[in-house]
Amino acid sequence: MKITVLHGQMHHGSTWHITRLFLDALHTETSQVFEYSFPKDGPLPCIGCYQCFQKGENSCPHAETVQPIAESIEESDLVILESPCYVYGMSGQLKSFLDHMAYRWMSHRPHPSMSRKIGLCISTAAGLGSGRTAKDMQQNLFFWGISRLMRYSVNVAAMNWESVDPKRKARIEKDVSRIASQIRKNIGTAKPGLKTRFLFSIMRLNQKGNHWNLTDRNHWVANGWLPADKTGQGG
Ligand SMILES: Cc1cc2nc3c(=O)[nH]c(=O)nc-3n(C[C@H](O)[C@H](O)[C@H](O)COP(=O)(O)O)c2cc1C
Repeated sequence: MKITVLHGQMHHGSTWHITRLFLDALHTETSQVFEYSFPKDGPLPCIGCYQCFQKGENSCPHAETVQPIAESIEESDLVILESPCYVYGMSGQLKSFLDHMAYRWMSHRPHPSMSRKIGLCISTAAGLGSGRTAKDMQQNLFFWGISRLMRYSVNVAAMNWESVDPKRKARIEKDVSRIASQIRKNIGTAKPGLKTRFLFSIMRLNQKGNHWNLTDRNHWVANGWLPADKTGQGG
């Protein structure tokens, strides 16, 4: 099993430790884990140049940083996004990376491998907002086309892992082991669900009439999701 982890922070707090528990529970002799911590491993913020949409992802001024991460995601069976809850949402540095993946949304150029993956989103908050943060991250994975989505969110009533109550830690460990076993059962068998298939068909209709962005449209033709026109080109 190949796993890509996007850490929404650099420090090793509650969110990082819970992610570690998942990685330990999922570890096998053959598993490979690719980890990226933001902002260290991430790009500068998106400058809104639209090059990724119009010319292609390699024209992004930050492609050198973004593309190795995108390739790692594409190769993986499981994609983990994790972030502490910061003012009711994911950390700015994780969001900043996810902005660079807008070209991979189903409305543009979803990668064909996405439908076979599992996505897991992990978040912690002190008191309120971990669930919302995990959903916020999960929305990105859904729009990339990953339909087998899981999340784990917990309000830890603490500013760091060391001060999390031992009883709560024990409950977290139990939860992690239950969710990890569900992930192991589903790895390699994930299929797009009804909601994903419905959205994909709407996006296909949209691409059919797309004469303004051939980079997107040609991607749909190249993947066999749209017939080529007489010239063999999309559009
Ligand atoms: C900038 C900032 C914003 C935060 N916003 C919230 C919040 O909206 N709701 C909440 O319950 N906790 C909030 N917290 C607390 C953290 O989410 C909480 O302590 C979390 O478990 C920290 O995870 P970590 O140990 O992985 O850093 C915030 C903390 C920081 C530093």
